[in-house]
Amino acid sequence: MDVEAIRAQIPACQRLTYLNTGWQGPSPRGVVEAVMECMEYESFDGPTTREVFAAGRLHMVKAKEQAARLINATPDEIVLTSSTTEGLNIILNGLDWNEGDEIIVCNLEHMSVMVPSLVLNHRFGAQVKVLQFAPAEEHESILSQIEAAITPRTRMVFFSHIQYSTGLRMPAEGIRAMTKDRGILMLVDSAQGAGHIALDMRKLDPDFYSFSGQKWLLGPSGTGGLFVRRDLVPQLKPVRVSSRSTSFHDHLGNYEMETDSIEKFPTTNPSHPLWAGFVDAVQFNLNAGPAEIEERILSLSDASKRQLSDIPGVQVTSPTEGPGRSGLVTLTVEGAEPPNVVDRMWDEHNIVCRQVSYPPAVRLSFSFFNTEQEVAKATAAIGAIAKSP
Ligand SMILES: Cc1ncc(COP(=O)(O)O)c(C=O)c1O
Repeated sequence: MDVEAIRAQIPACQRLTYLNTGWQGPSPRGVVEAVMECMEYESFDGPTTREVFAAGRLHMVKAKEQAARLINATPDEIVLTSSTTEGLNIILNGLDWNEGDEIIVCNLEHMSVMVPSLVLNHRFGAQVKVLQFAPAEEHESILSQIEAAITPRTRMVFFSHIQYSTGLRMPAEGIRAMTKDRGILMLVDSAQGAGHIALDMRKLDPDFYSFSGQKWLLGPSGTGGLFVRRDLVPQLKPVRVSSRSTSFHDHLGNYEMETDSIEKFPTTNPSHPLWAGFVDAVQFNLNAGPAEIEERILSLSDASKRQLSDIPGVQVTSPTEGPGRSGLVTLTVEGAEPPNVVDRMWDEHNIVCRQVSYPPAVRLSFSFFNTEQEVAKATAAIGAIAKSP
């Protein structure tokens, strides 16, 4: 991978040390230009002019194709969404829930997993079982705890492919093996997965898989994708509806609900410029190569964890060994609150990172455009803060 050529295309790399892709990634110049070109074309040549409108529609078609290519699915298994959270809502609120249905989640989850699950408890009396995992829980232990939590009432196992809180990569394949034959639905939040690790829906075979465009894919905010297994589309009811949610309607009040088509979920008026940017962002990722990206990210984050572990007073809380590792590195500094460390990283070292609140830690995200020098720079900065917390 030609990292210098990649960095040359990402203006943020020339201005600062950006270690916060897990929140939002800095877009390459091509993505920004694609958005601007589409916006200009629509505005200057008339958004509903036949040619302009057709070009906008083509961006939508391409966006679906690109999303499908990225995760090895087909376009008719993809809904274009505004975010991971929107995709999760389409699934959770589109299924029929009964009182006593059980959903298994864990304590390390993002609120986009936790809150929509708890709302199902509030509305329908579904039971949310929250498993208690250590920040770097071993895969074997995760699988055995899930196995022990499954009952005849278990309807769904719902988890983030990579936990935002500690970077723990979950044993998605093992969870699928445990749920598939029992007819337990598997919903995966891949806000931290797409663009970070290589994805293959044919191999993983989830029921539902939701991802973001604005994080590791370096795309515009307001873009995301949702994979829905084809045979499950009919049982999902669109919560927000538009004309597309009916297969037939007239002005006399006659209608038929759409059931089979995945097009029943999006509502009206997508932003063509954003999707033009998304297409470019996914291409940027595919050009670098998802497997190569995953490998490079792990090599940078492994180096960071090794270096940080040698600093007195610093504790790395994310997994340091085994298949639970990812590009997210969480750490604590003795005597310093995470928000203060994050502020000092920016004010004193020109490094962007974030804090996470449960378990409390500073989080560094290493993306494929980051360098070994930036890893060392972050280590030195944390070292300096640890010396005078
Ligand atoms: C695991 C996880 N889920 C969901 C989200 C929310 O993503 P989005 O804004 O695309 O809905 C995030 C954002 O950080 C996340 O880390």
